[in-house]
Amino acid sequence: GLVGGSVPAPTAGRLPVIVSTRRLNSIGEIDHLSGQVTVGSGSTLGDVQRHATAAGWEYGVDLAARDSATIGGTVATNAGGIRVIANGMTRAQLVGIEAVLADGSVISHLGGMLKDNTGYDLASLLCGSEGTLGIITAVRLRLHRPAGATSVGFIGVSSYADALALVEVARSGGARVLAAEILDDTSMDRVCEAFNLPWPLRARAPFALLFELADGGDGSGFESLADHPAVLDDPVIALQASDRERLWAYREKQAEAFAELGVFHNLDVSVPLPRLAECAEQLRAEAAAMPGVVAYGVFGHLADGNLHVAIVDGDPDSYEVDRAVLECVARFEGSISAEHGVGRVKAAELHLCRTPAEIGAMRSIKAALDPAGLMNPGVIFT
Ligand code: LAC
Ligand code: ZN
Repeated sequence: GLVGGSVPAPTAGRLPVIVSTRRLNSIGEIDHLSGQVTVGSGSTLGDVQRHATAAGWEYGVDLAARDSATIGGTVATNAGGIRVIANGMTRAQLVGIEAVLADGSVISHLGGMLKDNTGYDLASLLCGSEGTLGIITAVRLRLHRPAGATSVGFIGVSSYADALALVEVARSGGARVLAAEILDDTSMDRVCEAFNLPWPLRARAPFALLFELADGGDGSGFESLADHPAVLDDPVIALQASDRERLWAYREKQAEAFAELGVFHNLDVSVPLPRLAECAEQLRAEAAAMPGVVAYGVFGHLADGNLHVAIVDGDPDSYEVDRAVLECVARFEGSISAEHGVGRVKAAELHLCRTPAEIGAMRSIKAALDPAGLMNPGVIFT
């Protein structure tokens, strides 16, 4: 994780206990009538995806860490990733949950009813609770019909605003938008340098916008986009699986590319779409002006309003940089965590995007379910 949610903190007079769920890796048979499956929380996201695909279905969440991320971890953090525009976040895939609570009781509701309004939705509550309310042991997941063959393309644009205009056009076109990701030129330069890759577009552009469109795989989904005035150059479109992966690599290898320069400030934030362009530009300007900055980028899941801010300054332990980014996002009424959670790192900043009444309600839930504060102390709340 990016926020230390799974890192035990020293707590006076207490011994930290780390629980691994990796052996809870059962993956049940797919219920084809309901399009659902029950899986143990230690299964990897990649194993669940492959299990669904082999049976003619698709799991709705995908992200670069698919083969190390467990399903339990993705539920505990309500993981987002690259398919949110199409399928929603992890919470939207969740039909039921089994978990062990702090008092040792086991809650289990895995029957798979889509319509079930019998009191509080404990699955939704535990989703995104970052280990603070209980230990998730199994989940019932909704699956999707496969989107069919897709095309992946890079389009060069001049600004975040132009990129958002193209997202709007793409979403109103005939092909379903499965992903819309943006890379600024500094992020692109970083990944090209780290992995010795050529610039993916014919001409250098201030921003490269990646779309994955469910258009039957023939590139036709890009036709309505190619003539738009915001498009700087002919799009580069991949129709073969190997080419699609080659283009995706520029985006998926961002974290590794920045990590090559050392531990870096890695913030995941979101901003309401109408204000995203202005906020992202501000973040780039602030990052460029940070003392000691060696490399930076503001890239990410554009259509979800989710920006990843990477800043390498040789001083990863300094919290000033992180705070400056989060305060900037708060000025645009954004969220200090889009998809990686609050963890320990952002706990002191929760007030930037949650009111005292909201934090009070969250604390009451925490106190009711875990009165002794046993579960992941120091995470979400200071
Ligand atoms: C990504 C992860 C870090 O999108 O969320 O690259
Ligand atoms: Zn991300």
